[in-house]
Amino acid sequence: MGTFAAVTGMNDLLPGPEGDRVRALLAAFRDAAARYGFGEVRTPLLERAELFERGVGAATDIVDKELFTLADRGGRALALRPEGTAPAARAAIEHGLVGRDRVLRWCYAGPMYRAERPAKGRFREFHQVGAEVYGDPSPAVDAEGIEMAVSFLRGLGLARFAVRVNSLGGPETRAAYGRALFEHFNARRGDLSEEGRARLDRNVLRLLDAKDPRDRAAAEGAPSILAALAPVDARHFEAVQGYLAALGVPFTIDPTLVRGLDYYSRTVFEITDQSGALGAQGALCGGGRYDGLFGALGHPEPVPAFGFAAGVERLLMAAPSDPAPVAFRAAVVAAAGPAEGAVRDAALRLAQRLRAASVRTHLDTRFGSLRSQMRRASDEGAEVVLLLGATELAAGTVTLKRMATGEQQTVTLDLAVESVVTDARWRTRGGA
Ligand code: HAM
Repeated sequence: MGTFAAVTGMNDLLPGPEGDRVRALLAAFRDAAARYGFGEVRTPLLERAELFERGVGAATDIVDKELFTLADRGGRALALRPEGTAPAARAAIEHGLVGRDRVLRWCYAGPMYRAERPAKGRFREFHQVGAEVYGDPSPAVDAEGIEMAVSFLRGLGLARFAVRVNSLGGPETRAAYGRALFEHFNARRGDLSEEGRARLDRNVLRLLDAKDPRDRAAAEGAPSILAALAPVDARHFEAVQGYLAALGVPFTIDPTLVRGLDYYSRTVFEITDQSGALGAQGALCGGGRYDGLFGALGHPEPVPAFGFAAGVERLLMAAPSDPAPVAFRAAVVAAAGPAEGAVRDAALRLAQRLRAASVRTHLDTRFGSLRSQMRRASDEGAEVVLLLGATELAAGTVTLKRMATGEQQTVTLDLAVESVVTDARWRTRGGA
């Protein structure tokens, strides 16, 4: 009988160093989000497919070509979420939380699904961390959001990345610009790649970030959206740039940055890796303002909104890996011999107390010979071993052994946990 492999483009995350890195990244994101005042939302992996058709846009690659869909028992089309912005907005509307000048800050972390062609850094199941602000039209929100993304990336140890910003203006600007762009490319239709011609007819703005050299050549001399911005949008964009400068965020303006999702208006931004760790899939993080999404999802009042999301797998590929594996701090070893049952009970209880005091503790529950338990403790990286035998148990004590020096010390069972904890504190402060 054959065995099974994971579905193409989907990966297992196994316990070990990679799992530890993911956990640390999520903790860093949650910590950053809390510092900026974001509360965490979790929405289902499945939504009505129409949410993405109306929210993200039926003509986008994400919805048109990459949606994983299935029918529910009543035959209605469901989709595995390809992104988190439309679902979070759906939830905010459904729970009646937006409107009436309320400002909400929501963040999320979780898997997303896109049936893309798998490549380095491009998966069919991947994970995003994201943040969204509802109800505040100020350009300061855009700048703070970009600054938060940048400081989160820096906190992960990423140093080589580039921040590009652009403005798409309001819906009228976008429509008028789309027509001008269509004229430009339509005059060069014969020079475009097949994919380029498809974009021309479906979603002309996306021709600006096409990768095919023929499409790039045809983009030469295309009109710039920045010249088409309405005065009110141009002022917004200038204010965003002013705040970014005040916050010390380095950025460049890229008038060809259009993003692959239809809901954006005004500010858009993308952060790309410059270390080369990601090859062609350099986008680490992207987002922007989407003042029209709530209306498109049926909310009666407009709700200005801004947000971004970053790809967890890509961040991990670009971030320096921590060379120090997370090891056990302590191991409890139970000697065999007389009163073995009572010694094991005491060992289990001691491990329980150490863990309750936040000490990462190993206990070899196979309880082999003293030698094999000591070897295992050392293999697991334990810095201190707490040794319990019949003699110790009778005396109410435990022997602490520091693995690095071999130094031993007998303490009462009551004080054992405290000794390990204060010893760790002392070592950390001493910088050893
Ligand atoms: P996005 O640019 O489609 O934006 O995705 C954000 C990030 O998710 C990308 O920069 C990339 O790091 C990661 N990503 C996307 N697709 C894949 C993939 N197939 N494999 C691995 N990583 C991937 C959004 O999803 C918007 N919802 C962002 C946003 C939030 N805009 C406003 N609020």
